[in-house]
Amino acid sequence: MDHFLYRDGALHAEDVPVADIAAAVGTPFYCYSTATLERHFRLFDEALEPMDHLVCFAMKSNSNQAILKTLAALGAGMDVVSGGEYARAKAAGVSGDRIVFSGVGKTAAEMRAALEGGIRQFNVESEPEMEVLSAVATSLGVTAPVALRINPDVDARTHAKIATGKSENKFGIPIARARDAYARAAELPGLEVVGIDVHIGSQLTELEPFEMAYRKVADLTEALRADGHAIRRLDLGGGLGIPYTRSNEAPPLPSDYGDLIKRTVGHLGCEVEIEPGRLISGNAGIMVSAVIYVKHGEGRDFLILDGAMNDLVRPSMYDAHHDIVPVFEPEPGLEQTPYDVVGPVCESGDTFARGRNMPPLKPGDLVAFRSAGAYGAVMSSEYNTRPLIPEVLVRGDQFAVIRPRPTFDEMIARDNIPEWLS
Ligand code: LLP
Repeated sequence: MDHFLYRDGALHAEDVPVADIAAAVGTPFYCYSTATLERHFRLFDEALEPMDHLVCFAMKSNSNQAILKTLAALGAGMDVVSGGEYARAKAAGVSGDRIVFSGVGKTAAEMRAALEGGIRQFNVESEPEMEVLSAVATSLGVTAPVALRINPDVDARTHAKIATGKSENKFGIPIARARDAYARAAELPGLEVVGIDVHIGSQLTELEPFEMAYRKVADLTEALRADGHAIRRLDLGGGLGIPYTRSNEAPPLPSDYGDLIKRTVGHLGCEVEIEPGRLISGNAGIMVSAVIYVKHGEGRDFLILDGAMNDLVRPSMYDAHHDIVPVFEPEPGLEQTPYDVVGPVCESGDTFARGRNMPPLKPGDLVAFRSAGAYGAVMSSEYNTRPLIPEVLVRGDQFAVIRPRPTFDEMIARDNIPEWLS
């Protein structure tokens, strides 16, 4: 459920007509709903009651500080994967003891910054990383809380580019090596083993892969405790999928997911962390774009928009489907026409959809890409020297620009010309 609904024929973000925002900020732009963000966060938070738990928002899905502040105000922690994300979370006012640091390639500098600024735990993904973290913590005279990310060799049954829990993926320590890795962590100075971490992939639309992974985590918890490790925290990752179409998809609900967690690991008495990204931010955002031209091609019509692959890369990168709806509802009974929906970028991959049935549209008409709040703005680029598009946050009948569109001058001024060229 989200808060982007038609009222009197016009798409609204909560109580704000989307066309009013377009008139104020220009197109294309991202628009987020506070109510949807809050609703989705609470669904997870309540699903884990009454367990001792922390929902750490995977801020890679949407890292605007206004979004982080909205969620942090509800009690969210953050899952960060880079020094930049760590700094952003801190800038948004999240305290270090609510930040977990994931990622396969943490540098010593990133570790140092997090240890100095405060960190809840590092999710350590390899033995070499463990050695470096030990050295960094020791040099600072502090102890780093760690969970080892285990690769459970489970097929997440999702798009290959976003599956992470199979042995061929670069993530985590193979489960067969886990006990040796924990033994090594326990003997290294400057590390305190607090738990186990697992994340098997993103946009999972079934619970079975989670169940297989979490059962393995439960068995491992018992084995590690028998080895003398005080496992008190389980980070179960993110990955629960969302419906990208209005019609047939019905991924499991956070409440079913919460029940599964209780069933598989609840008996262990551990504090539970989860790292959802997409399910919190995905359907809390749309990307709004205007039609520039309707071009009649050979046997097909192209709807050429002012938004492009650099603004929303998911269709080109993962063949992802996003519903595209007109901002003004068409008259009932109007016949739909198939369009190839494309952007202005100079490559054929800049295609959002092929043969998509839409009501007849003309230049200047506005369309909204649904489910664009996760992995949308954060994956955008300035390819073709197209400015990063603005982000707008709606709350009730108010809206605010939470990232402005840069001017061409600002973009161009970032280049430095070496002396020999000036
Ligand atoms: N935790 C870890 C360690 C992760 O790697 C990820 C996502 C998450 C949590 C959050 O997963 P979520 O709940 O959002 O599914 N750009 C791709 C998705 C990449 C996901 C990367 N890791 C897309 O647009 O589909």
